[in-house]
Amino acid sequence: MKLVKLGSQGLVVPSLGLGCMGMTGMAHMDIYGKADEAEAIATIHRSLELGGNFLDTADLYGPLINEQLIAKATKGRRDNYLLATKFGWEIDDNDQITWKFRADKAYVKKAAERSLHNLGTDYIDLYYLHRLDPKTPVEETVEAMSELVKEGKVRYIGLSEVSAETIRRAHAIHPITAVQTEYSLFERSAEEAGILQTLEELGIGFVAYSPLGRGFISGELKSPDDLAQDDFRRSIPRFQGEQFYKNLELLAEIQTIANEKQVTSSQLALAWVIAKGVVPIPGTKRRKYLEENIAATEIRLGADDLARLEAVIPLGTETGDRYDQAGMQAIDR
Ligand SMILES: NC(=O)c1ccc[n+]([C@@H]2O[C@H](COP(=O)([O-])OP(=O)(O)OC[C@H]3O[C@@H](n4cnc5c(N)ncnc54)[C@H](OP(=O)(O)O)[C@@H]3O)[C@@H](O)[C@H]2O)c1
Repeated sequence: MKLVKLGSQGLVVPSLGLGCMGMTGMAHMDIYGKADEAEAIATIHRSLELGGNFLDTADLYGPLINEQLIAKATKGRRDNYLLATKFGWEIDDNDQITWKFRADKAYVKKAAERSLHNLGTDYIDLYYLHRLDPKTPVEETVEAMSELVKEGKVRYIGLSEVSAETIRRAHAIHPITAVQTEYSLFERSAEEAGILQTLEELGIGFVAYSPLGRGFISGELKSPDDLAQDDFRRSIPRFQGEQFYKNLELLAEIQTIANEKQVTSSQLALAWVIAKGVVPIPGTKRRKYLEENIAATEIRLGADDLARLEAVIPLGTETGDRYDQAGMQAIDR
């Protein structure tokens, strides 16, 4: 796979990473259906064979067991992988998610030690603040993360779902290497909020999470009822009622373009993200999808292709909220 610079501090990553969240449940809930540990580990191994060594996890996923799964999969070959993890949703001393935000200095240090332990490593390649803690100035959080870099426990620092103003404040304390935000053909609020421009100006990389719209863009879901009762997506307005079917109509147009190009709609959506200069981290727990997604890195889209795709879902198109109310409130805008 082609390698790309992420940010300006020297981190080089493959042009597409692997999102590992769906490989475990979270807080007693399945995220995208049941996971099979052996297939998840095989997917991580296959990804490395294909040059996809950039893995994305978080202490929140599980909680903690997702990082432990990655430790198991990367054991003996840790240095061949680039491990990105996140902190910021408080996990208490009983390993339970409290659903409060914690990013004060003491917590940052504690969370980092726990992630190092669970990942079975003595360094984290890219450590993200998962969500802003409204009680803690971002300067304090980034200062603590900067100390982790000085101690050699973290190589590069990232932020997730933050505003342009927060990015500037954080970057003034320690160079930020990457910002991770939801971004796909169906979710372009980062572009609308000027985040992409700010990142370009500051030389910060952009990592797109949920680049397949949490699987919607693959076209496999035909109705909200296709989701299992405990599937996380049932809580998301974008997957509910009339909005789901409106989005399905837009997807049909994307699929027409994909058919013409003899690629899948997932591949076309990933190629679009890459063409925008962004690193997508599509999530999958199976080798079949992984191989399909990595093949998308070979697709070259011209300006006319991008214009055609963006005309289907222009900026500002209403596609429905991407989180429930509490989830939307956690986003720094
Ligand atoms: N920073 C944050 O707040 C945040 C939030 C969400 C996610 N993330 C990270 O971003 C990663 C990616 O996002 P995501 O997993 O939420 O969403 P996504 O990548 O948009 O979609 C994942 C879903 O798409 C399915 N899928 C993947 N490739 C496919 C293909 N080629 N054909 C058909 N279906 C396919 C997966 O199925 P299977 O699971 O069955 O393989 C899963 O249901 C996560 O794993 C996580 O690491 C970060």
